Amino acid sequence: KKIGVLFGGRSVEHEVSVITGMQVIENIDKSKYEVVPIFINKDGKWLTGEELLKFDNFKNNNLKNLKEIVVTSLYNDNKIYSHPENIGFLGKKFVEDLDAVFIALHGTNGEDGTIQGVFELINIPYVSAGVVGSAVGMDKILMKDVFKSHGLPIVGYTWFFRKKWNDDKEAVISQIEEKLNYPVFVKPANLGSSVGISKAKDRDGLIESIEVAIRYDRKIIVEQSIENPREINCAVMGYDDEVKASLCEEPIGWTDLLTYEDKYVNSNSKGTKGGGRNIPADIPEDKAKEIQETAKKSFMSIDCKGNARIDFLMDKDENIYVNEINTQPGSIAYYLWEPMGISFTKLIDELIEIATK
Ligand code: DAL
Ligand code: MG
Repeated sequence: KKIGVLFGGRSVEHEVSVITGMQVIENIDKSKYEVVPIFINKDGKWLTGEELLKFDNFKNNNLKNLKEIVVTSLYNDNKIYSHPENIGFLGKKFVEDLDAVFIALHGTNGEDGTIQGVFELINIPYVSAGVVGSAVGMDKILMKDVFKSHGLPIVGYTWFFRKKWNDDKEAVISQIEEKLNYPVFVKPANLGSSVGISKAKDRDGLIESIEVAIRYDRKIIVEQSIENPREINCAVMGYDDEVKASLCEEPIGWTDLLTYEDKYVNSNSKGTKGGGRNIPADIPEDKAKEIQETAKKSFMSIDCKGNARIDFLMDKDENIYVNEINTQPGSIAYYLWEPMGISFTKLIDELIEIATK
């Protein structure tokens, strides 16, 4: 089978996706699949070339070098062609002989249903959640609305349009202060990897945080913060109601929230997420079970498919809250499946199987 692996992309998570894409290319079973790497540059151009497959030591490169290597190799390869941005033509001509594509993209235009829609239209199976699951999973407001309607545990939140903030700041501030207590988290509704997110301890901080967030999005969500929470993550794989949960992990060595730099630039250990992680998380067995069951429900509630990582917060009384779902997690969250006996290669295999069912 011929599998296209898409990585890079126009989102703020471009670099993370380069790593995820290369990890997928590295670990895919080459005796079973012919890989066609498809790099989407920051301008949205689609590029491909054999050169990429030569880099088997990418894990030792830091993010910056890695990006340079990939980009340089792609641009220097004569076989590479850039593709017209025209969507209709793009889909057909570029990918018409592929049996499936692995969408190793994160964030806007990659994880939000848009590119999934392209592959629906041209009838090529893809590894990723579908259009609806991707779109709902990307929008933190819609995601929480759905979680809430399914009775899943979430922290208090409220949201508003950028336009409303520009028109009537007082009204927005009262709306937030009526519903939530400081400190609160202010987030653009549609970005990943903590971009544009900050914590506000008081009204001045809130105003500052909102001014940052509105640079990134027209919708802003404000969430109740939890005192000294632990972050526990769990992956779920499958489709419809045939789903299974991975072990739980606890990222360690962070304070208020993981910044983009913490997660990726200072990355040193497993996967693309920086810092350390405890796998399995050091939590009671019944708590882990509860998290796994809630993760599965969260996955199904937004009509997810493939493999997603669900991020939880746990307060000091061990109450859990679903924080968010990442429908295409960094490194495909392979490190959560590996200790369960599902190698990265096997994981990719299972995901392609799910996609082509
Ligand atoms: N959005 C990044 C890639 C993650 O959550 O893993
Ligand atoms: Mg997260």
